[in-house]
Amino acid sequence: MSDKNLNPFILFQNWFESASEKEINDPNAMCLSTVDNNNCPHSRMVLLKGYDESGFRFFTNYESNKSIDIEQNKNVALNFHWKSLQRQIRIEGLIDKLNSDESDEYYNSRHYMSRIGAWASDQSRPLKNREELEKKIEMYKEKYPDENNVPRPPHWGGFVVKPKNLNFGKICHTVFIKEIFLN
Ligand SMILES: Cc1cc2nc3c(=O)[nH]c(=O)nc-3n(C[C@H](O)[C@H](O)[C@H](O)COP(=O)(O)O)c2cc1C
Repeated sequence: MSDKNLNPFILFQNWFESASEKEINDPNAMCLSTVDNNNCPHSRMVLLKGYDESGFRFFTNYESNKSIDIEQNKNVALNFHWKSLQRQIRIEGLIDKLNSDESDEYYNSRHYMSRIGAWASDQSRPLKNREELEKKIEMYKEKYPDENNVPRPPHWGGFVVKPKNLNFGKICHTVFIKEIFLN
C-alpha cells in the first residue's frame, strides 16, 4: 500500500512513541546494515539518538568496521523491531557524517565514563585482554580528570541516515505493509 499524502515522519513518531511506552528495553535500538567493499552486508544494533525530516541519527566510532563500510558505500538500511507492538519499520537511504557541532553537543551530554570510553575503546578491534582496556580507561581518566572538560575524540561522532523509503509493517494474521517512497 502506498499513500503519498501520509507524512512518514509523523507515522514514525507515532509508532516510536508507542514503542517508548510499551517496549521494556531500548525502544530506540535499531539494526544498521552496511555493505563492505566486497559487496558483503553487515548488520549490528545501534541506538537512535535523534530524528526529524532530515534523517535518523546515531553515534559511533569513526574507525569502526561500520564506519569503514560507510566511507566506501553510503547506501545503508535500518530496521526497528518492536516485539511488544508486533511492528517493524524498515528504512533505506544514504548516510552522511553529522557536523562536528552536532557531534560535540551529543558527546558533551554523555556521562563522564562514556566520554572516557570513547577515547579508550578501539571499537571493532580485538582486545588482548580485559586489563588492556582497563589500563587505557585509567590512562584517559588521568589525562582528562575534569568531568567538564573531556574533548570529543576525533574518531568519534555521529551519522545521519537520510531515508529514500520507509516501510511500516504490522504483524496481524498476515503482515500489513505501508511503504512510502520519498523523492
Ligand atoms: C542494543 C545495542 C545498542 C548498541 N548501540 C550502539 C551505538 O549506538 N553505537 C555503537 O557504535 N555501537 C552500538 N552497539 C554496539 C554495536 O552493535 C557493534 O557491536 C559495534 O558498534 C561494533 O560494530 P562494527 O564492528 O560493525 O562497527 C550497540 C549494541 C547493542 C546490542
